[in-house]
Amino acid sequence: MTIESRAVMESEFPDWLRAVATGFLQPPTPSAEEIAARRTGVDLARTLGAFDDGRCVATYRTFAQRLTVVGGATVPSNAITNVTVSPTHRRRGLLSRLMTADLAVAKERGDAVASLISAEYPIYGRYGFGPATWMTEWEIDLPRTGLDRRWAGPTDGGRIDLVDPADVRVLGPQLHERLAADRPGTVSRTERWWQVSTGALKVPSQPLKEQFYAVHRTAEGQVDGLLAYQCDDHWGRAKQPQNTAQVSEMIALNPAAERALWNYVCSIDWVTTLRSGHRAPDDLLPRLLPDPRAAKVHTHADFLWLRVLDVVRALEARTYDVSATLVLEIHDGLGLASGRYRLEVSEQGAHCTRTTDSADLTLDVRELGALYLGDESALRLVELGTLEEHREGAARVAERVFRTPKRPWCPDVF
Ligand SMILES: CC(C)(COP(=O)(O)OP(=O)(O)OC[C@H]1O[C@@H](n2cnc3c(N)ncnc32)[C@H](O)[C@@H]1OP(=O)(O)O)[C@@H](O)C(=O)NCCC(=O)NCCS
Repeated sequence: MTIESRAVMESEFPDWLRAVATGFLQPPTPSAEEIAARRTGVDLARTLGAFDDGRCVATYRTFAQRLTVVGGATVPSNAITNVTVSPTHRRRGLLSRLMTADLAVAKERGDAVASLISAEYPIYGRYGFGPATWMTEWEIDLPRTGLDRRWAGPTDGGRIDLVDPADVRVLGPQLHERLAADRPGTVSRTERWWQVSTGALKVPSQPLKEQFYAVHRTAEGQVDGLLAYQCDDHWGRAKQPQNTAQVSEMIALNPAAERALWNYVCSIDWVTTLRSGHRAPDDLLPRLLPDPRAAKVHTHADFLWLRVLDVVRALEARTYDVSATLVLEIHDGLGLASGRYRLEVSEQGAHCTRTTDSADLTLDVRELGALYLGDESALRLVELGTLEEHREGAARVAERVFRTPKRPWCPDVF
C-alpha cells in the first residue's frame, strides 16, 4: 500500500492530533475540547500528514515566525513543529519526505531560514539544520547563595508588584517585543501564545497550574521586567519548609530589573530551591549571587536549530562589528542554499552576492546555521573538521565576522 503525504483536511484533523499524541507518547484520543482548542492554533494549509490506508501515521506542521537576528532586525522563518512518525512507520523515510518537500516550499515562499526545537540532537543535521542557540537551566540552593535574607525590595526607587494573568496578557506582549528588538534568537509570539500560557485558552493536553506573576517597575513607574513562577508545597520533618520555585518566564529589559526580579524570587519565604527555567548560558543569574556556586547546572543543551534557506537575505539581515570580506562555499545536500557567496561586511552593513571567486572557506549549510546568530566559533569548526580553510587566516576572520559578545537566546519552546 502506498503512503500518501499531503496537507490535512478539516475532517482529518482529529486523526492527525491522535497521530501527534502517539508520536509524543501521550494518551492518543483527543477530546472534543482538545480538538477545538488545538484547531485555533493551526493553519491546515501548513499542516501535513502521511496517511496509510486512511490512517494518519506521520505529522508535520509549520507556521510563520519572525526571528530576531544579530543587530535586532527580524527575518521570516518557517517554524517547524509537531513532527512525528508513528512507531509502526518509523525509519521508512517519512520524515525525510515531509521535510524535503516543505523546505522547498518555504524557500519558494521567501523564508530566509527554517527553525525548530530538536527533540534529539541527531535528527535534523541531515536536513541542513545547525544548533544556533544554547540554553542553561540552573538549580539554586537558596540558603547557600549568601543573599541577604532580610531583602525587602529594590532600594533604587523601583518596586515589584504581583499582577494577574489578565494584566500579563496586556503587559507581556509589549515587554516581549522590546526584548525581541535586541536579543538575537528570540522568536515572535502570537496573541494565542499569551492566551495559552496564561490560562485564558485551555488546552487539556497542556494542563497549566496557575502561576504567580511579578513585574518590576522603575522609579518612574515603567514596567521593565516580568517573572512567572510556581511553587510546590513540600515540608520536611520538624516543620521545615523545603519548597521549590520553578520559573517559567523571566523577561528583564535591563540589569536592574533582572537583579531585582531574581532577588525577589530567591527570597520568598518557604522557598529553599530555585529552578531558573531556560536561560541564556551567559545569563547574569549565577554571577549576581554572592556565592555563584549555590547554582548547579540542571540542564545545558542546544536549543533553537536553524536552517538557512536564503543565504543572501540571511547574511545581509544581521549586523557585523568588523570590516572584512569572505568567500564562502556552501554545500547543501538539498540544494536549496548551495553555491559560492562573497560576503562583504562592515559596521555600516553587509553585502552578499554569488561569486565565481575562489573560496576562502567551505562549509555545510548546517554549520552556517550554527554560526549565524554568533554562538559558534569558526575556529572550533575548523578543529572539528566541519569548516575547511582554503586561505590562511580566513577562519580567524570568520571568527571575528560571525561571533558576537552576547550569546543569542531563544526563550520559547514551539
Ligand atoms: C524523529 C522521527 C520523526 C523520525 O522519523 P522517521 O520517519 O523515522 O525518519 P526517517 O525514516 O525519514 O529518517 C531519516 C534519517 O534520519 C535518521 N533518524 C531519524 N530519527 C532519528 C533519531 N531520533 N536519531 C537518530 N537518527 C534518526 C534515520 O535513521 C535516517 O537515517 P539514514 O538516512 O541515514 O537512513 C520519529 O522517529 C519520531 O516520531 N520520533 C518521536 C517523536 C520525535 O522525536 N519527534 C521530533 C520532534 S522535534
